[in-house]
Amino acid sequence: MRIGVFDSGIGGLNVLNELIKKYKNAEYIYYGDTYYLPYGSKTKEELIALASRIILFFEKENVDMIVIACGTCSSLANNLKIITEIPIYDVITPTVEYIKNRYQKVALLATNSTIQNGVFERQLKEQNIEVYPLSCPHFVPYLEGLIDELDVEEELKSLKNDSFEAVILGCTHFPLLKEQIENTFNVPSIDMGKCLTEMIHIEEHNNFELTIYMSIVTEDLKKNVKDILKKEFPIIEKNLPV
Ligand code: DGL
Repeated sequence: MRIGVFDSGIGGLNVLNELIKKYKNAEYIYYGDTYYLPYGSKTKEELIALASRIILFFEKENVDMIVIACGTCSSLANNLKIITEIPIYDVITPTVEYIKNRYQKVALLATNSTIQNGVFERQLKEQNIEVYPLSCPHFVPYLEGLIDELDVEEELKSLKNDSFEAVILGCTHFPLLKEQIENTFNVPSIDMGKCLTEMIHIEEHNNFELTIYMSIVTEDLKKNVKDILKKEFPIIEKNLPV
């Protein structure tokens, strides 16, 4: 099977890693839209325009399935699923599915856009789950090297006195801060890539292939990609017209 996986940048590689752990023998195409990141500060209209062109690119690449490895775009999955016949999987639906029989009270950390959009929170509340949402606008810029410093505890302090059983890493970049987040709250974190991988089925064939595209490639990006995938892969620079 050929699977297209996309995000604004390196966050979706955390999802890709989980998919590869379970389904190694497939053909993956990754697109990271580094030229336009962060997605978390964009409007719904901007996000739909950006994600649509990636979906059309995947269509031309003849993928069998598309994974929205981005919490922000997953909030708009209903708008994105209608632009192609190719099956599209988002990361929010399987995360809510995973949580619903396990937890009653959860914190939701995500980008501004995801929190404001409210789809994630609504889906959880429909399952009678109490939600403590918090937007973390500096996490992605820090992880992508746009800002130099980040005090995770300080960013999370407004939730410090609330009581919840688990914290959702509601942006696919956030597993890169998993330890600091778990230590701040002393509760387990929920990784959307793991939730998705548990619920998706990928037909494997004989070999593993991964092609990585990013809309802009820098030396820092190459290093980050290697750190996350634990192996060096070539990165093709390809910006898609909006
Ligand atoms: N990793 C993405 C998410 O899950 C997008 C982050 C961003 O570019 O702001 O929301």
